[in-house]
Amino acid sequence: MALLHYNQNYLGFVAKLLLIATLAVGVEAIGVNWGRNASHPLPPTKVVQLLKYNNITKVRLFEADPFVLQALQGSKIEVILGIPNSMLPRLNSSLKVAQSWVHDNLTRFLSDSSPKVRIQYIAVGDSPFLQSYGGQYVPYVVGASMNIQAALTRANIADQVKVVVPCSYDAFQTESGLPSKGHFRPDLNKTMIQLLAFLSKHNSPFMSSISPFHLFQQNKNISLHFSLFKETSHPHKDGKKVYDNSFDLSYDTLVTAISGAGFPQMDIIIDQIGWPTDGVVNSNSSTAESFMKGLLSHLRKKSGTPLRPHKPPKEAYILSLLDEDQKSIVDGGFERHWGIFTFDGQAKYSVDFGQGSRSLVNAQNVEYLSAKWCVVNDNKDLSNVTASALDACSNADCSALSPGGSCYNLTWPGNISYAFNSYYQQHDQSPDGCEFGGLGLVTTVDPSVDNCRFSVQLQTAYGGFLQVPSSMYLILLYTAGFLI
Ligand SMILES: *[C@@H]1O[C@H](CO)[C@@H](O)[C@H](O)[C@H]1NC(C)=O
Ligand SMILES: *[C@@H]1O[C@H](CO)[C@@H](O)[C@H](O)[C@H]1NC(C)=O
Ligand SMILES: *[C@@H]1O[C@H](CO)[C@@H](O)[C@H](O)[C@H]1NC(C)=O
Ligand SMILES: *[C@@H]1O[C@H](CO)[C@@H](O)[C@H](O)[C@H]1NC(C)=O
Ligand SMILES: *[C@@H]1O[C@H](CO)[C@@H](O)[C@H](O)[C@H]1NC(C)=O
Ligand SMILES: *[C@@H]1O[C@H](CO)[C@@H](O)[C@H](O)[C@H]1NC(C)=O
Ligand SMILES: *[C@@H]1O[C@H](CO)[C@@H](O)[C@H](O)[C@H]1NC(C)=O
Ligand SMILES: *[C@@H]1O[C@H](CO)[C@@H](O)[C@H](O)[C@H]1NC(C)=O
Ligand SMILES: *[C@@H]1O[C@H](CO)[C@@H](O)[C@H](O)[C@H]1NC(C)=O
Ligand SMILES: *[C@@H]1O[C@H](CO)[C@@H](O)[C@H](O)[C@H]1NC(C)=O
Repeated sequence: MALLHYNQNYLGFVAKLLLIATLAVGVEAIGVNWGRNASHPLPPTKVVQLLKYNNITKVRLFEADPFVLQALQGSKIEVILGIPNSMLPRLNSSLKVAQSWVHDNLTRFLSDSSPKVRIQYIAVGDSPFLQSYGGQYVPYVVGASMNIQAALTRANIADQVKVVVPCSYDAFQTESGLPSKGHFRPDLNKTMIQLLAFLSKHNSPFMSSISPFHLFQQNKNISLHFSLFKETSHPHKDGKKVYDNSFDLSYDTLVTAISGAGFPQMDIIIDQIGWPTDGVVNSNSSTAESFMKGLLSHLRKKSGTPLRPHKPPKEAYILSLLDEDQKSIVDGGFERHWGIFTFDGQAKYSVDFGQGSRSLVNAQNVEYLSAKWCVVNDNKDLSNVTASALDACSNADCSALSPGGSCYNLTWPGNISYAFNSYYQQHDQSPDGCEFGGLGLVTTVDPSVDNCRFSVQLQTAYGGFLQVPSSMYLILLYTAGFLI
């Protein structure tokens, strides 16, 4: 009896261990995109702290910024290191260029002589197939990938680091909303077959974004509930397959496209998936939180999708860690509001990155400019003020004023003040930044109302170096290292 009892306990214990192991694997497969397209980016060391406090173990970087890589040295955080699209033509035509990229930006951070950065993938290009780029990068992608691969081999690091290409959500499509009719965009057919053959040869996964948010915006057949992983009374049917969320629908469309091109076994990594919180209707912290909770719990179940049961994506990277006020808004103001955290590292909602029920930890000891704002001076003749505001908005970030945005309800001239303040903060609160032909006024009273936040920008000496070429950063880094 006692033995049996022991055995049952023991089996229970093993079962629990297995469960913990499974959960841990699930947790490790989730990462975040760390973009730095902001006027005042949080300092890299603070961001790395933020990642650590919140048990985030994987990041995707868009370029090899030496300060960022230095901040990651010695940490356990695993990295996808990106190469900007602008480098693709040169990388395609020259192995030498690829070798010097690998030498300058990679080898140093993998060498035994200093604390390493756990770089696992080199991402060639940043969504180079996006339709809005008009195909300008397409002819260079495969050639550039091959040259980077050859450079890795020559540097003896090809077994540690794999080459991937981040494909955009609009690189594949379907008819009548049916995943079983998925295919790559016709203009990409040839390139995709070459790319898949290259990846397959080197045992690299296929990398792509999935965007339930864009699909929801573009397709009237897709409901908000279906997009947010909520119960839906109208699942989508595709033959015998039943889809109860938008993620599975898009993922299986991609699976069909990859299979149709001849590579049905290809592993998939999702490089960007998220829900924005501002700048357009249906984007706010509560919709984003629902989406993330639904997504993470779906991924952690590891049940896969109707076309790939029990074979979920190998890894998934959330879009995004932080808001970025310099991102392009050709697609809409929401592009600046993908962050789980605001630009200054404050959590907008909670998600479980492995910390369990504990809420997210905010960035610590953030340094702001003074508690000052720029508003419109009500005592002046404001008949021409709209032109000034439009001017301000062409540089500064007015995306929260878009229909459905958090500041859309500001009545005139409150919205003008919002534009003035954004410009003033972006210009580090310089007196000129609140001029506007005498229509601006500096105040110490916070003009924020309800959810509409008039921000005070970050104090960042680092931001001041933005115009310095990257070779200059290296000199500064080396000099700093030498002095210490
Ligand atoms: C999460 O991170 C905290 C602080 O870095 C650490 O104390 C804790 O053990 C981590 N939890 C898990 C589940 O890894
Ligand atoms: C890419 O590089 C190859 C090899 O140098 C070259 O033949 C080809 O023309 C290049 N492609 C483009 C579009 O320039
Ligand atoms: C290293 O990466 C940076 C940022 O991506 C780039 O500007 C620089 O040209 C790269 N270095 C080389 C030698 O290619
Ligand atoms: C929407 O659904 C209808 C009926 O199921 C279908 O005929 C149509 O092609 C779908 N439209 C899109 C854009 O998916
Ligand atoms: C692209 O490839 C698909 C199969 O993968 C094929 O059905 C389609 O006709 C091709 N389109 C073009 C324009 O070559
Ligand atoms: C967020 O958006 C959803 C969907 O549009 C809406 O129902 C909800 O009221 C919004 N929440 C807030 C706080 O604005
Ligand atoms: C930041 O966004 C601007 C505007 O969209 C773009 O021109 C630039 O290339 C982006 N920079 C980075 C580092 O992504
Ligand atoms: C408004 O702009 C017009 C045209 O530029 C100018 O003639 C006028 O004096 C301006 N009014 C004020 C109050 O500044
Ligand atoms: C804006 O005002 C409208 C009407 O009063 C209200 O329904 C809506 O929720 C408000 N939006 C925000 C973002 O506060
Ligand atoms: C501010 O609001 C007025 C009136 O509602 C509108 O005409 C104007 O375009 C808005 N300006 C900005 C910068 O949003």
